[in-house]
Amino acid sequence: MASKILCLIIMIAGFLPAITMATEYWVGGDKGWTLDVDYQAWAKDKTFKVGDTLVFKYTKGHHNVFKVNQTAFQSCTAPPPSEALTTGHDVITLAKPGKKWYICGVPTHCSDHNQKLVITVEDGAPAPAPAAPAPSAEYWVGGDKGWTNDVDYQAWAKDKTFKVGDTLVFKYTKGHHNVFKVNQTAFQSCIAPPPSEGLTTGHDVLTLAKPGKKWYICGFPTHCSDHNQKLVITVEGGAPAPEAPVPGPAPKKDDSNNSYKVTTSAYKIFVGGVVLIWTILTLV
Ligand SMILES: *[C@@H]1O[C@H](CO)[C@@H](O)[C@H](O)[C@H]1NC(C)=O
Ligand SMILES: *[C@@H]1O[C@H](CO)[C@@H](O)[C@H](O)[C@H]1NC(C)=O
Ligand SMILES: *[C@@H]1O[C@H](CO)[C@@H](O)[C@H](O)[C@H]1NC(C)=O
Repeated sequence: MASKILCLIIMIAGFLPAITMATEYWVGGDKGWTLDVDYQAWAKDKTFKVGDTLVFKYTKGHHNVFKVNQTAFQSCTAPPPSEALTTGHDVITLAKPGKKWYICGVPTHCSDHNQKLVITVEDGAPAPAPAAPAPSAEYWVGGDKGWTNDVDYQAWAKDKTFKVGDTLVFKYTKGHHNVFKVNQTAFQSCIAPPPSEGLTTGHDVLTLAKPGKKWYICGFPTHCSDHNQKLVITVEGGAPAPEAPVPGPAPKKDDSNNSYKVTTSAYKIFVGGVVLIWTILTLV
C-alpha cells in the first residue's frame, strides 16, 4: 500500500510539471549565438518538444538567424535577407516536430566559425501512460469464500473497479454449483437459462469483454433465490483517456485474499519511473 501511494505521488509529481511547462532554451547557454561555439555539444543532452522556445541572443548587427533546410545548412547558404531574424533577441517557438536547422547568415560565420545549429523537435505530449497497455486484473469472485451460498457478493464487489479486459474467476466445488451469465430480468427472478449455457468446471474464468452491467447467478435450485448466490457488476470502458495521465483507482486488495495480479503495481512502478526519468531529463 505504501509503495502504491509513493508511486502515485511520483507519477503526479512527474506529470504535473510535464504537462504544464514549455521549456525556453537560450541557444548556446551563456555564450549565446556567436562564433566558434559547439552548438551540437550544447544541444546534445537536451530534449526539444513542440511548444518549447529557442532564444537566439547576440549583439544586434553582429549576427542574425536564418531557419534553413538541410541543404542550405550543410552548404551554409543563407536565404534572402528578408527572411532573417535580426533583433539580437530572436525567439522561435518550435511549432512542429522534426529536424530544424538554423544558421547565421553573416559571411563566414556559418562556414568558418560553426555558427549553426540543428535540433530534433519531439512531439509535445509524453506518451508513457497512453502507450502502455492497461494492466488487467483477475478477480476471484467472493475472495477466499469463492462462489457459494450465503455470501454477500455485492459487498465483495463494492470497492472494486472492473474494467474491460479484467477476468472473473468463479471458484467452487464442481457439481455443487455452476455459473450462468444472465440478463437483468433473469437475475432479479433467479431464472437460469438452459443448462447448456452453464459454466460447470469449478474454476470458471470469464473475461470482461465489453463495458456495461453484467449479471451472474448460480443455476442450482434455491442457490440464487434463497442463498443469494448472484453477482451484478458494472464493467468500465477499457483504456484510460489520453487526457487523464493518472490512471483510475487500482483494484482494491481483498481483506483476506491476495487474488489480483501483481502486474498492477509493477506497471505503476514502470510508468512512475519512466515519467520521473523523463521529467528529470526535461527539467535539467
Ligand atoms: C533549401 O533552401 C534553399 C535556400 O532557401 C533553397 O534555394 C532550396 O531550394 C531549398 N531546397 C530544398 C530541397 O527545399
Ligand atoms: C485466494 O482464494 C482462492 C480461492 O479460494 C484460493 O485458491 C487462493 O489460494 C487464495 N489465495 C490466497 C493468497 O489466500
Ligand atoms: C432474459 O433471459 C431469459 C432467460 O435466458 C430469456 O428468456 C429472456 O427472453 C431474456 N429477456 C430479455 C429482455 O432479454
